[in-house]
Amino acid sequence: MHKKILVLPGDGIGPEVVREGVKVLKRIADKFKHEFIFDEGLIGHAAIEATGNPLPDETLEKAEKSNAILFGAVGHPKYDNDPTTKVRPEQGLLKIRKELELFANIRPIKLFDALLDASTIKRDVIKGTDIIFFRELTGGIYFGQPRERRENGNVAVDTMIYSKDEVRRISKMAFETAKKRKKKVTSVDKSNVLECSRLWKEVVNEVAMDYPDVEVEHMFVDAMSMKLIQCPNNYDVILTENMFGDILTDEASQIAGSMGMLASASLGTKYALYEPIHGSAPKLTGLNKANPLATILSVQMMLDITFDMKEEAKAIENSINKVLEEGYRTYDIKDEKTEEAKVIGTKEMGELVARIV
Ligand code: IPM
Ligand code: MG
Repeated sequence: MHKKILVLPGDGIGPEVVREGVKVLKRIADKFKHEFIFDEGLIGHAAIEATGNPLPDETLEKAEKSNAILFGAVGHPKYDNDPTTKVRPEQGLLKIRKELELFANIRPIKLFDALLDASTIKRDVIKGTDIIFFRELTGGIYFGQPRERRENGNVAVDTMIYSKDEVRRISKMAFETAKKRKKKVTSVDKSNVLECSRLWKEVVNEVAMDYPDVEVEHMFVDAMSMKLIQCPNNYDVILTENMFGDILTDEASQIAGSMGMLASASLGTKYALYEPIHGSAPKLTGLNKANPLATILSVQMMLDITFDMKEEAKAIENSINKVLEEGYRTYDIKDEKTEEAKVIGTKEMGELVARIV
């Protein structure tokens, strides 16, 4: 097959982890006789430095012409230390999600057996965890207007807003997936407090009526954050709005051992962007220490979901499994049993996985 892939390395560790993702894609192309054509675009701080804009039009045009996008990370400490800056790297990512209408962010929490001891949570609690988050990605408080400072900067406003249509389309996706899995959707809200959450719950219940075989459960977000690490095995498909999903998936990454293990797919009806859930990790930048597996697993999702290359996707998963079973670890997923000689860097991890795909 012939596919155009736009690579958006971004900032911090983004370029380092994306390089390993591309390495694996090239290996897949070789082995399975595909042609992947790579193009690269600017986003985030890198784009601000070059053009003044965190998402230049050129990047968006390239994205619209691609079959899939591989994204690294955005963010830079310079902006975090100056809250008054109007232009920020994160706006690049938010804008591309919005412009391409990537409303569904799918984040699987899958635990590799070899990493049972990498988590700070007891192994008996996390063993067997297999959750898939459906995070709404283009609505809610991330995008609602107005968002501004008032009264000489002494008051700040953000707006949480959802339409029934926005809730319906992500809910349908979650129920479709649940139908093929354990037939249960856990919908997260804060309907004891928020109007948006009451609307969310109402629509989820409406959608549920079309899926009589799927059980629906509603959880308040505060309780969910507790239950998630108390008994992760009770959950299969978790459906949530934008900000709750952002927070809960960082929490859930600890079940899988590290943020460096969590991949995601951001999907709309026309475009697809694949992104590790972690950020730009400025402290690790350039040290060959970042875990590239979240990006490689995002590549795996790209092959599986957008390109429908099931065998190729499986080959990547098997390869990761093998490398981990052999004891290799980046520093974020090592435990006390890891041999010192098997603690490897970003490049080495990418090479090992690519070699045996
Ligand atoms: C994520 C990130 C982003 C988000 C940031 C970088 C804007 O945390 O993808 O989870 O909040 O969505
Ligand atoms: Mg996040």
